[in-house]
Amino acid sequence: MKVKMRIDKMLGNLGYGTRSSIKLLIKQGAVTVNGTLVKDHGLQINPNEDEVVLDGMTIQYRDTVYVLLHKPAGVISATEDKRDQTVIDLLDEDITVMSPFPVGRLDKDTEGLLLITNDGKLSHELLSPRKHVPKTYRALVAGQVGDTDIEEFKRGVTLDDDYVTMSAQLGVLASKSGEGSPVVGEAQYEDELTSAVMLVPQEAELDPNVALSWIELTIHEGKFHQVKRMFEAVGKKVLYLRRISMGPLKLDPALAPGEWRELTEEEVDSLRNYRKGGTE
Ligand code: URA
Repeated sequence: MKVKMRIDKMLGNLGYGTRSSIKLLIKQGAVTVNGTLVKDHGLQINPNEDEVVLDGMTIQYRDTVYVLLHKPAGVISATEDKRDQTVIDLLDEDITVMSPFPVGRLDKDTEGLLLITNDGKLSHELLSPRKHVPKTYRALVAGQVGDTDIEEFKRGVTLDDDYVTMSAQLGVLASKSGEGSPVVGEAQYEDELTSAVMLVPQEAELDPNVALSWIELTIHEGKFHQVKRMFEAVGKKVLYLRRISMGPLKLDPALAPGEWRELTEEEVDSLRNYRKGGTE
């Protein structure tokens, strides 16, 4: 497709500065197009075909970016913060120049899948309360989670502000009834429970006599601290929380906490189609 765009607009859209600072960069001889030094900041180029180099760095044109981050504990889901490191601080500059933001929030101590994008429309639709996009979590819970909890979560539990949650799907993957007792569950989940115990922060002062459950929970809404408050509502405490999916998007097991990658085209399409189809 033949698209024409001014060079200063292209660089501006990508976040490389204001029109006036880009004009200055061009004047200083920092930009070439197809190997030729640019003198005119209004030069028309084809951003998809022409090779634009700024300060020796080839600039790929695109107007949207989609990142899958395995959020680690200790960073906050915001674009900037005075005290804490944010999820945006974990990304590279060629991504952050495009002004991406997290789609929804995970608590500071929650790990797992976080989508980061500058696609406001997609973000809005994924977060829309009407869409009920499912979000699945694995959690280590203090207490023996059982059939009564599963039933209550299915019916909806009453949170501390009297909000009754939508039906949620809870399953127990592995459990341990107390100190000295074995972890019981499928081998993979027994290992996951044991590893999650190591991730419980010291402040939680884990009582060795208390039973532990490694659970999976799918919710279809996103109230503040929802998973933790749902367990509080049934008298149990979440000790460690990890999100493993959001709609069709799954946490990539190849990503360690703190690592990220851009979404594949298939993943972006699956999100777009998912949103289009709706889930009401
Ligand atoms: N529910 C919570 O309680 N915390 C999160 O970070 C996400 C869901």
